[in-house]
Amino acid sequence: MCGIVGYVGPQPAVEVVVHGLRRLEYRGYDSAGVAVVAEGRLRMAKKAGKLANLEKELAEHPMPADGVGVGHTRWATHGAPNDVNAHPHLDGAERVAVVHNGIIENYVSLRAELEADGVVMRSETDTEVVGHLLGRAVAAGAPLDDAMRAVCARLEGTFTLVAVDSQDETAVVAARRNSPLVVGVGEGENFVASDVAAFIEHTREAVELGQDQVVRITADTVEVTGFDGQPAPVRPFHVDWDLSAAEKGGYDWFMRKEIYEQPRAVADTLLGRYDENSRLVLDEIRISENELRSIDKIVIIACGTAFYAGMVAKYAIEHWTRIPCEVELASEFRYRDPIVGPTTLVVAISQSGETADTLMAIRHAQEQKARVLAVCNTNGSTIPREADAVIYTHAGPEIGVASTKGFLTQLVACYLLGLYLAQVRGTKFGDEIAATMAELQAMPAAITEVLEAIEPVLDLAGEFADAPSVLFLGRHVGYPVALEGALKLKELAYIHAEGFAAGELKHGPIALLEEALPVFAVVPPKGRDQLHAKVLSNLQEVRARGARTIVLAEHDDTDVVPYADVLIRLPRVSTLLQPLVATVPLQVFACELATRKGHDVDQPRNLAKSVTVE
Ligand code: F6R
Repeated sequence: MCGIVGYVGPQPAVEVVVHGLRRLEYRGYDSAGVAVVAEGRLRMAKKAGKLANLEKELAEHPMPADGVGVGHTRWATHGAPNDVNAHPHLDGAERVAVVHNGIIENYVSLRAELEADGVVMRSETDTEVVGHLLGRAVAAGAPLDDAMRAVCARLEGTFTLVAVDSQDETAVVAARRNSPLVVGVGEGENFVASDVAAFIEHTREAVELGQDQVVRITADTVEVTGFDGQPAPVRPFHVDWDLSAAEKGGYDWFMRKEIYEQPRAVADTLLGRYDENSRLVLDEIRISENELRSIDKIVIIACGTAFYAGMVAKYAIEHWTRIPCEVELASEFRYRDPIVGPTTLVVAISQSGETADTLMAIRHAQEQKARVLAVCNTNGSTIPREADAVIYTHAGPEIGVASTKGFLTQLVACYLLGLYLAQVRGTKFGDEIAATMAELQAMPAAITEVLEAIEPVLDLAGEFADAPSVLFLGRHVGYPVALEGALKLKELAYIHAEGFAAGELKHGPIALLEEALPVFAVVPPKGRDQLHAKVLSNLQEVRARGARTIVLAEHDDTDVVPYADVLIRLPRVSTLLQPLVATVPLQVFACELATRKGHDVDQPRNLAKSVTVE
């Protein structure tokens, strides 16, 4: 949610910053802007709309090639996404420029105080007050980093701030509270950014900033202090993805590339987590086996797609461990006085590791003394840092706003967690765990098989491009898959779509069925239970009302044929693991349908990748 870049070094600052913004545009794309300090002057350019508008502006009115720079790509919170509200924001004397990610919660009173003092505001944003406060502090003689510390001490809310002072061509100053900020440490050049993607092609060495810290970077130095001015400890880390991970590599969309990366992402997430003695090894879980044995309840908290991963996880974890497991939307969790305590394990699932709803929920859980385990894809992000333990998903950077490989690898991490708990607590025999692990190891090949036979799904997207509404049905773990299929279609194709538990159809949603309405159904593998037969009955109900059924079922499941207008074949896998293959055609369907409608698949309207406001 908003992308921020700052640069000090010998390269043309404006170019480095705009290039960094290009890599961060997934975080917000309502408007973009840059400010550069060069030749003793501050220059600024900002434009509503996508980064391309700013690039056009810069091509028509070039900025100096030297100096230091900051830039911003915005997901609007306060004020419409127009040129004026775009960042950077300046003080009255136009000496300081600042960009901001987050929300300044006390900006109304700060604004009133400044206006009472004669300050004229130019924008409707909360950020502008910071520009004025910083400007006043530097005008009174404070160096920019001192000014930043003093101003931050007055701010409430969440913020990453990055600022430059026209009187100092050597430094960029940044601050962080509850919003992401990493420092890229180069050779004779340094960077600050919301995400390592912004500087990955210049350096792989990074420093993670803690809460309430200020960093001042020059070309050769990185000084980190707390808001109190005391030197603060930092955690250096090495970024191990290569540049190609942050580029489209010949695909039309990052999302499509990320869908095709799923076999590798799943394989990488499994890698090294199973030893030669057929035991699961989850070194990152810094919670002792004794503590894990004393857990009497698991609560999974997450948002959106990650929440659907949590729904699947509940089925698997309860089945394998017999520990009661709840799954709850992070945004609801802390506001309902949940019952959690020292014997509760709270599992927070977040691809970005920055989702504010999830972060606030884990803080609430920790206040109740619960142990928190994060399932996360982003090294250096806030949620794993604050959690007691973490299982990283090794999906690599997910840049398309709609989560794909993030989801599949979250599923894998949750399966690993469930099996690990079963191993520690002895609720499954070693050979049962080994058999499930063998199945998991076969999943990359199974996902590849789905992708290799995806052509009919692409055709289907063409056929349904004008459908006003699409329904998705599933039972058991097929239910969250149905919800995920519907979410993908809503967010990418802007089509009304709903996912239902197939058994619930008759309790209301069946009234929606009408002639030719497309209804996707995930059919579970034929097993010993009645699940399969129940879904076929539901399909019968759908067809009886003239709707069109698109049925996802195992390749040798002939029972489904009479119930399917269109059949999408899936490899044979066990019920609990079926979401790993059944989700893939639904992702492709949404991506393709949105493409055919001419939508921007990687940057759907009104959305942002990392939702850092509650
Ligand atoms: C949908 C999507 C969102 C995210 C949600 C949580 O495609 O991507 O629903 O899943 O915003 O994000 P993370 O996992 O970063 O906490």
